[in-house]
Amino acid sequence: MFRKIAISAVCALAVLTGAASANEGGSVTDFAFSFEGPFGTYDRNQLQRGLQVYTEVCSACHGLKFVPIRTLADEGGPNLPMDQVRAYAKQFTITDAETGEDRAGLPTDFFPANTAAGAPDLSLMAKARKGFSGPNGLGINQILFGIGGPEYIASVLTGYTGEEVEEFGNVFYENHTFPGGRIKMPPPLSDGQVEFADGAPNDVTHMSEDVAAFLMWAAEPHMMARKQAGFIAVLFLAFLSTLLYLTNKRIWSGVKGKKLH
Ligand code: HEC
Repeated sequence: MFRKIAISAVCALAVLTGAASANEGGSVTDFAFSFEGPFGTYDRNQLQRGLQVYTEVCSACHGLKFVPIRTLADEGGPNLPMDQVRAYAKQFTITDAETGEDRAGLPTDFFPANTAAGAPDLSLMAKARKGFSGPNGLGINQILFGIGGPEYIASVLTGYTGEEVEEFGNVFYENHTFPGGRIKMPPPLSDGQVEFADGAPNDVTHMSEDVAAFLMWAAEPHMMARKQAGFIAVLFLAFLSTLLYLTNKRIWSGVKGKKLH
């Protein structure tokens, strides 16, 4: 009895303090992404817009070296027509691994690496960061809302206060989300910076969501296939449980005195 009360008290406390301890020091906004939940899917147009934001803005400093360019054509991903993927690859100059000579990029190449500005590679960033560590590290938030990598990225991009701090000759930018409150990345986005072909809103918040969704796809391109396989597995297990239950009933029917025939 006492144990039960103690456990409920701990749970209640955890839930109460949960909102405050979202991310070590930083606050993460819960953006609603199309791919959340067990049936969530990537929004193809959003991924294409995110690719555009990455290409026009982020790629100046950040690489995506683990992402093969050809996957831009994948169904369930940005799903670009193959001729557009070829044209996209062509803009990069790649040093051929076999001949050692420079040539135009091909869909079979990876996105270029870029660490010129000391910026981290973004290929796996959406999986390397968490948005909601859950009340006191219990992870309840993560079960309810997802790990929160894309939320974290969108929150960093929208979390600038506009203040700059100079420390040891380096300029840092004040940011609500980045742990420690100061980030070396200058605010990369401003309203209206990228023009979308589909006329979607291009304020900082929308562009941040689009590029965060794109980075989630880059980090986990097969999320939809994984969810589908999971769903089929659950259906199969439910079916198997029913069969086992009926079998069990039949096996014990003689002992329990209920004659089936
Ligand atoms: C002018 C160069 C520059 C541009 C442009 C830029 N970044 Fe960065 N970014 C950086 C640097 C430098 C860091 C490392 C910051 C630090 O560690 O303080 C960084 C860090 C990050 C991080 C990691 C934060 C973390 O938790 O470690 C993310 C996510 C990120 N950038 C996303 C983006 C996105 C998305 C874009 C495009 C909208 C973008 N950046 C554009 C320079 C840039």
